[in-house]
Amino acid sequence: MSQDSQPGLSRRQMFTGTTAIVTATSLSACGGDEEEAPIIRPDGVPMSSFGEESTAEEVTAGLDLSGQTAVITGCNSGLGYETMRVLASRGAHVFGIARSIEKATDACNSVDGATTPFAGDLEQFETMAACADAIGATGAPIDMLILNAGVMALPELQQVNGIERHFVINHLGHFILANRLMEQVKAAPQGRFVTVGSQGYLWAPDDGIQFDKLDGTWMSEYVPNDAYGHSKLANGLFSLELARRLEGSTATANVIHPGVINTNLGRHYPTHIKIFASLFSWALPFFKSVEAGAATETYVATAPVLSETSGFYFEDCNPVVAGHNMENAAMAERLWTVSEGLTQAYIGSSASDVEES
Ligand SMILES: NC(=O)c1ccc[n+]([C@@H]2O[C@H](COP(=O)([O-])OP(=O)(O)OC[C@H]3O[C@@H](n4cnc5c(N)ncnc54)[C@H](OP(=O)(O)O)[C@@H]3O)[C@@H](O)[C@H]2O)c1
Repeated sequence: MSQDSQPGLSRRQMFTGTTAIVTATSLSACGGDEEEAPIIRPDGVPMSSFGEESTAEEVTAGLDLSGQTAVITGCNSGLGYETMRVLASRGAHVFGIARSIEKATDACNSVDGATTPFAGDLEQFETMAACADAIGATGAPIDMLILNAGVMALPELQQVNGIERHFVINHLGHFILANRLMEQVKAAPQGRFVTVGSQGYLWAPDDGIQFDKLDGTWMSEYVPNDAYGHSKLANGLFSLELARRLEGSTATANVIHPGVINTNLGRHYPTHIKIFASLFSWALPFFKSVEAGAATETYVATAPVLSETSGFYFEDCNPVVAGHNMENAAMAERLWTVSEGLTQAYIGSSASDVEES
């Protein structure tokens, strides 16, 4: 991947997340007509004919996923639910992970096809280790591990064991799951790690991951989207370093931005913004339906043409060169090492390694 391209913050990019409605409205009111930064494509990565309006059903049309196993976090809501539904409808056996077994069971039972519920709370690391071990006990090679769950715009600075909470939920909890299931993914004929990141990585600090202030105090004044963006940059760097570590195996790792979709992700925003979003998102051109929002993660998890594509960032079912540290290999390697240090009691190979929290 190119290291030297740093596309600017386009108008469309500013729209990531539900608060984008406010930004969009004020820009429109000002008659803002600045040009979007051009999208830069990486060399050598297959392009698809799919785009921002394609749905998860459309990008999997004609695929028979019988015999394949998919694992997805956040299966009970929004993009994770739709992705699970479509993968199961194409014949995959989907292991759906939610915060509680009740939520996972309800979601799994409400879709057609083969599904199995699992529980794991991304901010309670011992539950993620136990979840991974329960999945491991099935013995099934994992063809797709989709790290989809996430939280956005927590209203005030919150910490879990001294670490800022977006970073814990969006990055560290998934880091544990991925590490603990690593060998099972590598055991599949062509296992894929798909991390659901966000264009919100552009909200991360210019100098990237704040290794010395992971407690969130790098923000002199707490800004919810900045904390989210920091964790989403971590998603991208995690995927980049994972891809490097998978070299020489048949497994791949990629990160995606799903688009802007009115899901429960906006639950922490003020009520007036949520009402505005629910009333008007259909009329705002940059909003996608949930069906379209699930397309990119579903496409990257299943497209036969991507069997050897690893270490890339996708939007609208196509690869994009991301800037703003997303391709900083040294930062990615450091993040991996730091994350190992923060989760070392939970990323071992068996449940006996797990400490009581
Ligand atoms: N929607 C967008 O516009 C947008 C844009 C860019 C990126 N994304 C990314 O897309 C992914 C899916 O988001 P979504 O839009 O589908 O939002 P959503 O409807 O709110 O779904 C988020 C899922 O994550 C789960 N989750 C949250 N905290 C968790 C925890 N501590 N442990 C386990 N699960 C947890 C939620 O479970 P509960 O229901 O139990 O809370 C829910 O299942 C996220 O990674 C998000 O950052 C979304």
